[in-house]
Amino acid sequence: MTTAFDPIDLAGLRLANRIVMAPMTRSRAYGPGSSPTEAVVAYYAQRASAGLIITEGTQPSPAGQGYPDTPGLHSEEQIAAWRRVTDAVHSAGGRIFVQLMHTGRIGHPSVSAHGLVPVSASAVAPKGRIYTAAGPMEYVVPRALDEDGIQRTIADHVSAARNAVRAGFDGVEVHGANGYLVHQFLAPNSNLRTDAWGGGHEGRIRFAVELVRAVADAIGAHRTGLRISPGNPLGDIDEPEPGPTYLALLRALEPIGPAYLHLTESADRALTLELRKRFGGALILNARTEGRPSGPEELTLIEDGTADMLSYGALFLANPDLPRRLRSGGPFNAPDRATFYGGDERGYTDYPVLEA
Ligand SMILES: Cc1cc2nc3c(=O)[nH]c(=O)nc-3n(C[C@H](O)[C@H](O)[C@H](O)COP(=O)(O)O)c2cc1C
Repeated sequence: MTTAFDPIDLAGLRLANRIVMAPMTRSRAYGPGSSPTEAVVAYYAQRASAGLIITEGTQPSPAGQGYPDTPGLHSEEQIAAWRRVTDAVHSAGGRIFVQLMHTGRIGHPSVSAHGLVPVSASAVAPKGRIYTAAGPMEYVVPRALDEDGIQRTIADHVSAARNAVRAGFDGVEVHGANGYLVHQFLAPNSNLRTDAWGGGHEGRIRFAVELVRAVADAIGAHRTGLRISPGNPLGDIDEPEPGPTYLALLRALEPIGPAYLHLTESADRALTLELRKRFGGALILNARTEGRPSGPEELTLIEDGTADMLSYGALFLANPDLPRRLRSGGPFNAPDRATFYGGDERGYTDYPVLEA
């Protein structure tokens, strides 16, 4: 029987186990020009016993930044800073993909150094408020990307993916989940377009497909993953019937052959099983858990074949040696929400490991 502690071949990349550190924004890219600092190097190196680390959401361009102090991958100083992270993780025996996150309409002009108005599939503001350096603010109505803007956004992701390879990453995860730009194209309430990038399923999936295709063409499908979250209402997304859209997406991705699908399970298990059946690559599952973070309870999902790998968010944030703790059944440090976003080493690099 396969367990979460067995190695796996991810499209030619050998991972020591099937426990993945889920992408987590920490808003501590205090280096020059939104680049990772030495604290970020230490944070990821501490967690290198993951089979695979997926970094925090990283903007492919200044326009893709929606939160304060998130890192980018569009300048030479960012590439050099990320190189220190990937070197440290590799030296510790780990593997690391970078998550490319363009937040789209989940942003605010005050967040970007250039005062950019957020862009999206359509000029529809999400309900609610956004966290900014000056406190919570109302969302603004985003600018709908025109054809040129769409092509430029795809080109920005391609350029960031190439930068990722130069920075030593093992691959790139395209963020198609959690209400950010790609998800805004996928969902019928945020994509009201009537051109070839909207309308029915085939139109709404097109941006995701062309983005993954372009990244895979540039750096190889074996280095390219995609995260999705069908039905996830984050960022004021409404997908009342996500199945057909995401099944159409997987059909269109088949000839491209990305290395993995990272599924944030937001709908029912039946859809997870259906998506798994239709996807040729590896499935990383971020299991749906009610009112608690993923934990040892989820390990059986590898044993029963529901997924190939499991991703852990909050518990990995608080337990740098999470695979070892999962194996021994705990104990687990509790995550401190107050230090999730921004701040110093407290709640970042000071969570203790188990004694030898
Ligand atoms: C502090 C924090 C930041 C997060 N930032 C991101 C992110 O940048 N990109 C992303 O795809 N998901 C992000 N997530 C979601 C996690 O990847 C994961 O899906 C979520 O925490 C649920 O998994 P868990 O139950 O194991 O914590 C974040 C979660 C947390 C707790």
